[in-house]
Amino acid sequence: MDTLTDGVITLVRWRREDLDVLVRTADGSRDHLGDWLVWATGGYDRAKGEEFLTGAEQRWENGQSQDYAICTPESVVAGGCGLINRDPGREIGYWLAKEHTGRGYVTRAAALLVAESWRQGATFVEIRHDERNERSAAVPRRLGFTPHRQEPAGEPVAPACAGINHVWRLTRPG
Ligand SMILES: CC(C)(COP(=O)(O)OP(=O)(O)OC[C@H]1O[C@@H](n2cnc3c(N)ncnc32)[C@H](O)[C@@H]1OP(=O)(O)O)[C@@H](O)C(=O)NCCC(=O)NCCS
Repeated sequence: MDTLTDGVITLVRWRREDLDVLVRTADGSRDHLGDWLVWATGGYDRAKGEEFLTGAEQRWENGQSQDYAICTPESVVAGGCGLINRDPGREIGYWLAKEHTGRGYVTRAAALLVAESWRQGATFVEIRHDERNERSAAVPRRLGFTPHRQEPAGEPVAPACAGINHVWRLTRPG
């Protein structure tokens, strides 16, 4: 589905024409994001944005992942999230510009992606984060995921990270 909404936030499939807003949003929070996400460490420029949007289009078409902008009730792009195909499961990733944190937008986005996963027939959904990333850990906890495993992160790791990932899992009900 190109668009998902819960009546408050809307997830909108990233398109190549979103380059300006993507770069502005991610680079505008370069320290907040770069601490935890290696792709944002050192800033987010147009080359990174173009690479992401081109890759996202290909991954969507070949069924590898679905990447969305998270849009606020005022239709402002607040961040991004993605649903990665890990058949028979799915994995959710997310980020928010700093000024849009603390309002539940990413918890809402993840809930929408969980519902989309069940709609697609997935049997489980996972969320992974570095063990020091407490803000990220709060998202799966709020949504009823349970701790599933820990594993070393691949290199390189972002500066605030310990390099150990915690993986949470939610199993399809019924
Ligand atoms: C991880 C990250 C997305 C979490 O952002 P966040 O703002 O804490 O998460 P949410 O948008 O779900 O907001 C939750 C907050 O909104 C509040 N909130 C308000 N309304 C809410 C609602 N309807 N539902 C859930 N929470 C709500 C919650 O109480 C919580 O605030 P609190 O922690 O003060 O209690 C953000 O810290 C981030 O972008 N970090 C950098 C990138 C990153 O680490 N990405 C993840 C890599 S694994």
